[in-house]
Amino acid sequence: MTRLLRDTPLRPEASETLDPQDWDELRALGHRMLDDMIDYVASIRERPVWQPIPEAVRARFRDQLPRQACDLGEVYRSFADFVVPYATGNVHPAFMGWVHGGGSAVGMLAEMLAAGLNANLGGRDHVPIEVERQVVQWMREMFRFPDTASGIFVTGTSMANLMAVLVARTSALGKLARQHGIGNDGALLTAYTSKAAHGCISKAMDIAGFGSAALRSIVVDQSHRIDVNALRAQIASDRAIGFRPFLVVGSAGTVDIGAIDDLNELAALCAEENIWFHVDGAFGALGILSPALAPLLAGIERADSIALDFHKWGQVPYDAGFLLVRDGERHRDAFAQPAAYLRRETRGLAAGSSWPCDLGPDLSRGFRALKTWFTLKTYGTEKLGAIITRSCALAGYLEARILAEPRLELLAPVNLNIVCFRYVCDDADRVNGEVVIDIQESGIAAPSTTILDGRLAIRAAIVNHRTDICDIDALIAAVLEFGAQRSPHCQGLPSIDAPPLAL
Ligand SMILES: Cc1ncc(COP(=O)(O)O)c(C=O)c1O
Repeated sequence: MTRLLRDTPLRPEASETLDPQDWDELRALGHRMLDDMIDYVASIRERPVWQPIPEAVRARFRDQLPRQACDLGEVYRSFADFVVPYATGNVHPAFMGWVHGGGSAVGMLAEMLAAGLNANLGGRDHVPIEVERQVVQWMREMFRFPDTASGIFVTGTSMANLMAVLVARTSALGKLARQHGIGNDGALLTAYTSKAAHGCISKAMDIAGFGSAALRSIVVDQSHRIDVNALRAQIASDRAIGFRPFLVVGSAGTVDIGAIDDLNELAALCAEENIWFHVDGAFGALGILSPALAPLLAGIERADSIALDFHKWGQVPYDAGFLLVRDGERHRDAFAQPAAYLRRETRGLAAGSSWPCDLGPDLSRGFRALKTWFTLKTYGTEKLGAIITRSCALAGYLEARILAEPRLELLAPVNLNIVCFRYVCDDADRVNGEVVIDIQESGIAAPSTTILDGRLAIRAAIVNHRTDICDIDALIAAVLEFGAQRSPHCQGLPSIDAPPLAL
């Protein structure tokens, strides 16, 4: 030990810890923080959805490392004045960009409780892990997986998809591949997904050591569903030249337009070909909770693994991704690794094996399960399912308004909760791109964009449980107004009255 360490005086006073000198002062400030955040969520409609960050505000976050202490109240003021007003905006009901969930006040409170417990869910024997196991059990039940299925919370579906690729890899090559790498056998493995699949799948193939070229992108039909005949033909031709097809990733809700592949057909093909069948259900898998959508997901219960996010349609605050694997043994084979300092016991704190660290790359893990457990228990799956159904009905309303408006054009079928459209004008890609930015900067709504068949689309994904008819109307009005401003010489016909919403 160095002399400096040896000579450091050890005083017993509480001032040596990070706990406050005055707990009552902290309690008062804590209550104010809680009240402020509850007010923030309760009055979210009064705020702009998003606003550009002034340079002076940005500059405040370029400070030097704070060496000296600062009053907590002052730090909190900085948060209230400079962080809160410039957040992403996905708590707001008119946020419709990308696929962002709205969270809930219940989830927010659960996050606070989890932070208070400061539990590490990598392993060991404590009830926070039982809470995670409870959610795993609920997921088995929801997707009709066997009791031997395993599950684990992760950051998001990008991570869950990567882990599924790794489980499928170990399953195909055997556990020795974890020691020796994928080698020559691995170089022959090929995976399959549709052209409409999320980009994180090709990233996963890259990170897993196969290279993204080992992922075959299969054509889709008009509704963006994978063409299963083309998939079958690709698998056959790959086998004929010596490749080893090992993984098919089906989409339960594509990111662009919410298409759901024919999961039953994919399951049958994978069983026939002895190929791992993974479903990317980032947002769509929870559609199983909606009686109206569940039939579209038929076949998901036959998957070898499912990735999904509670932080999207599940309304759990970020982040709360999840991976469910039918064969828990294979899941453990891909990640479990003994270590002297992680020895398992049959009693004491080191009991309760297997641990979540045996099911993924993380050893230190937060208590994501708690906010999910609170959300599922507090609202119940029927209410969550009704919210999912309602977001699709709102998407249907938006679709009907677009079809009734000659100045707007629908660019893709509306499968679930995602609507892609645009303002009709010359130079439409440029104009619509600008319209989306104008709307975001106005604070009225926050759609995003995508490219469909080479054409830029305004994309509205209705995920937030707070979104209502007035938000859809505001989006339409904003597109028409900014569209006319950006393209004044291109005025279409007057609109037809808005159709009634059937919910
Ligand atoms: C279909 C699909 N897959 C994967 C992802 C990635 O999920 P995450 O952002 O939670 O990593 C998304 C995100 O929107 C998605 O829509």
